[in-house]
Amino acid sequence: MPLNTVQPRTHGGALVDAPRTFGHRIDPALVSDEALTSLLDRYPAELFDINLYDFDDEGQVSLRTGVRGGLSGGELLDAIKQGRLWINLREAADGYPELWAQVVRAFEDLKRDVPGFEPIRFYGQLILSSPQAKVPYHADPGGVVLFHLRGRKRIWIYPPDEAHMPEAHMERIVMRQTTEELPYHRAFDGDAAVFDLEPGQAVGWPFHAPHRIENLGEFCVSFSADYQTWGSRLLNGAYFTNGVLRAKGRSVRSVRSLSGSGMAARWAASTVLKRMGVAESRLGGFERSFEPSAEAVDGARPLA
Ligand SMILES: [Fe+2]
Repeated sequence: MPLNTVQPRTHGGALVDAPRTFGHRIDPALVSDEALTSLLDRYPAELFDINLYDFDDEGQVSLRTGVRGGLSGGELLDAIKQGRLWINLREAADGYPELWAQVVRAFEDLKRDVPGFEPIRFYGQLILSSPQAKVPYHADPGGVVLFHLRGRKRIWIYPPDEAHMPEAHMERIVMRQTTEELPYHRAFDGDAAVFDLEPGQAVGWPFHAPHRIENLGEFCVSFSADYQTWGSRLLNGAYFTNGVLRAKGRSVRSVRSLSGSGMAARWAASTVLKRMGVAESRLGGFERSFEPSAEAVDGARPLA
């Protein structure tokens, strides 16, 4: 398993300062066909994100988004198994409390096993994805633990340095001016830590480490838990403030070079800037172009 050549910084309270896997005890019966059919039948339609990613030969991505449509839970599960879909069920703490209770317990296990891991808030989504689905190269604005529950998938995790995760780009992600995809080059793969995930494994990575995923020919279910720590809040506050300054044409000092007090000063400035509403989110609604269907190409029937 290749190791990162660049050691990322450890920020306060993070789970890890280099990518690694953990075991977890979440009950796989909670994501059986029977359990998922029932869940999909009752899950609120507005909490579905239904995505279909297309990639060119260079690995560059384009995204189509779909609507929940009128399929029953069982039909929707069939469409996911036969298509090329990536479905997030958001706000799973409320939407699937039985599973959420086990995620909470898994976090307690991690806090016990990893000294210094101090999440102050966590939440998440259940991800159902097709056997051939892939997720493009991107970085999340918070901490993430991915609990893998069913099927097999491969994840590439890259160093969160300037070459792989440009600060100017994270500023725009934190300011909600752009989605989370980052510029990607195939040559980056030589710098990645690569893990093949089996059910019962979880994986964590440093804050803002870019990553991408390919399912390995099996229907997959994972729980993606986002977490915040005081360190991640300071970090993202610093990115926000730098992003505002950069947008005004001011030169900014790299977040990676800031001292603790420099980070805290920028975080404090960000709370004021946010109250002033200086950066309106540009993440509008996506135009929905399909609905799931087991009979359609890629599991996606174009909307009229
Ligand atoms: Fe992610």
